[in-house]
Amino acid sequence: MNRLDGKVALITGGNSGIGLATARLFVQQGAKVAITGRRQVALDEAMALIGENAISILADASSISANKEAIKQTVEAFGKIDILFLNAGIAKFLPISHISEEHFDEHFNTNVKGPFFTIKEALPYMNDGGTIISNTSVAGGKGYVGTSVYAATKAALRSLSRVLANELAAKNIRTMSIAPGPVTTAIFSKMKLSNEEFDVMEQQFLDQVPLGRFGSCDEIAETVLFMASDAASYINGIELNVDGGMSQV
Ligand SMILES: NC(=O)c1ccc[n+]([C@@H]2O[C@H](COP(=O)([O-])OP(=O)(O)OC[C@H]3O[C@@H](n4cnc5c(N)ncnc54)[C@H](OP(=O)(O)O)[C@@H]3O)[C@@H](O)[C@H]2O)c1
Repeated sequence: MNRLDGKVALITGGNSGIGLATARLFVQQGAKVAITGRRQVALDEAMALIGENAISILADASSISANKEAIKQTVEAFGKIDILFLNAGIAKFLPISHISEEHFDEHFNTNVKGPFFTIKEALPYMNDGGTIISNTSVAGGKGYVGTSVYAATKAALRSLSRVLANELAAKNIRTMSIAPGPVTTAIFSKMKLSNEEFDVMEQQFLDQVPLGRFGSCDEIAETVLFMASDAASYINGIELNVDGGMSQV
């Protein structure tokens, strides 16, 4: 039996990495899925991989109006929203002395403001018993050098999720966060590090993960599937670390 039969999911940033792997798995498990992204070419490539029962919507995750339009198009196509996966996010690591207002705003607009208002706008279309899952990060609970802005955005998202576990209780909507450790995705190439800088960062991660490796997008997607499914019906408000043990040691 499919675990998401009859469900409709909206996944932000679904053209790449964790979002794309989750979209593919959700469709395999019987869901209808809408993905958003900011690049049409990447969305088209993703749609070719996801296959049927999916739509793509060009939408900047930091824009309230674009997210509102994405919600509208999802509901027009599939009639409702059961699962909201707030996955789109950016990460650039710098010491505080190098952080500009632009860097700060870009991170908070994409990683916090966009998800916040997407939840607000989606709520009228969400069924009782729905789920909202935010993609946070192990960084949001630790003090890794260079992550001040990124970590603060993820901690904010985690806080939001916890508050909403109470606020949305009357609708039986579960709100949770998934906090990946280092996962092999394009997010690192988007940081525009030199090969040397990347190697240093990679080794620092590996030294801190008891399992001694990066996670895969499929490992994160499987966890998101579990959290979104009825198998997790008594799990609410948590931030679930999926990080090879990194946050625990
Ligand atoms: N990979 C890790 O190690 C790791 C660890 C902890 C948490 N996370 C979180 O996981 C989430 C997914 O990241 P990922 O690792 O899968 O990286 P990714 O492959 O770069 O995926 C990020 C997705 O978000 C999209 N996105 C970013 N800014 C956007 C914007 N303004 N408008 C629309 N779409 C936007 C990206 O679009 P483009 O392709 O156009 O950039 C992409 O589709 C992020 O929230 C990240 O913080 C990742």
